Formats: sequence, structure tokens, C-alpha cells
Amino acid sequence: MTTAILSALPEEQGGLVQALEQREQFQYAGREFWRGRLYGQMVVLGLSGIGKVAAATAATVLLERLGVQRIVFTGVAGGMGEGVQVGDVVVATQFLQHDMDASPIFPRWEVPGYGCTQFVCDPELSAALFESASAYLANAKAGCASQGSEITRIRATRVHRGLVVSGDRFVSTLAESAALRTVLATAGYEALAVEMEGAAVAQVCRDFGKPFAAVRIISDRADDSAHVDFPRFIREVVRPYADHIIAGFLQR
Ligand code: ADE
Repeated sequence: MTTAILSALPEEQGGLVQALEQREQFQYAGREFWRGRLYGQMVVLGLSGIGKVAAATAATVLLERLGVQRIVFTGVAGGMGEGVQVGDVVVATQFLQHDMDASPIFPRWEVPGYGCTQFVCDPELSAALFESASAYLANAKAGCASQGSEITRIRATRVHRGLVVSGDRFVSTLAESAALRTVLATAGYEALAVEMEGAAVAQVCRDFGKPFAAVRIISDRADDSAHVDFPRFIREVVRPYADHIIAGFLQR
């Protein structure tokens, strides 16, 4: 069983590449991949690049060309749900493409040809990610692990589980995130976080009948300071999260 650990950006991978044993690096479809052993498991680490099409290409390569049996995405996201703050972790239960709109031919957010608006994550993989993230944050709170920045040291962090929405937009104004949250909530969707890849990977995994799960660390609130918070978080904070959450997940 080979597990793919996919991220959009190198920073979101933390130190996983360095931790890989019997490491073999290669490029395919303009992307970097590393195969090796991590905490006793065969893994392929991959970088998709940003956006849904890039993510779909990477997921297809992983499943079709590199023969992985399951995909786990690790990266950052903008917090949208009430109480979903910078430094928190969201484990996705399902994904929706917030920029999918083929109405009036199909209902808003329905993916044509699939008859649904959401792609559900694998419950077992998601439960393992949730346990691992919870254990990491509990240890971090107890001072056993450093989160490396005042961004997260000033408040208690939480792990959330729920809907994550994806689209080809970096949401960087309060007006946009509030409007998105409201329109989704009106239709009964409570979005916890917004990012730019997960729903695409979920759709590809559904096409190939392979399990998928995703963990997202909240780097910003998808508001007017998102463009400042995001790069700072990526630079200063994300690394130990990715390292510990994926380590705990693979050891479960
Ligand atoms: N990834 C991290 N923060 C984001 C945001 N505000 N919008 C979209 N994707 C993100």
C-alpha cells in the first residue's frame, strides 16, 4: 500500500521530504515527486502547484502513473467558519467547488455529470488525521511541541471537522468571504475553510475509486489581512504542523 501525501507548495510539506528514507526524486508532468519510506510506510510525496486544475493533474499522475492507492492532502486554508481561527486545523469531511456554477442547466455547485455538489472524504483516513491533529495540538498546548510563532502561542488552537470549499480564487477580503459564507449557508452548507485544490483531488479520487482525505491548517481568515497572514504563516508556522500530523497519521 503506497500513500500519496500531496501539497500545493513546498512549505506545506514541512520537513517530510528530508525525513524520507530510501528517497528517490523524480519529475513528471512538470511536478516534483519523491518516493520512499516514511515511518515504516511506502509513500509518494508530491507538489501539485496552486489551483484546481494543477491539483487534478497531480492527483491523476499519482493514481495512474505512480500507482498510489490513496491520497492525503496536507496544506493551509483560509478560515471561514465561526471560531475557525489562524493556527486551528480543519480535517475535511467533504468538499464543494464554490466556483462551480452551471446554473440554470444544473443546480448551483452541482458538478455536471456527477449529480452531486459535494465529494465525501474517506471516513477512516479522515478519522486518523483528526486523531493525529488532535494529539499534536494537545501536545503543543502542553508545551511538548513548539508551534514556533506568536501567531499560535497566544491562543488555544482547535481541530475542526466539516465542509471545506475550493475554488480558483485566493479569498482576501472580508466582503468576499462573508458573501461566500452567506450564500453557502443559505443553501445549507456550512463552510469551515476555503482553499484552492481539495475539491479537485476529491473529484479525481472519486473517478478512480480511491480513498482521499485532507487536513488544512488555518493560515488566515480569508479577510482583508489574508495576504499578510498567509505568507507569514507559511514561512513561520506551518512546518511542525505538517511534520507532526502526517507522522502521527502514518503511525496510526
Ligand atoms: N489558502 C490559504 N488561505 C486561503 C485563502 N484565503 N483563500 C484561498 N485559499 C487559501
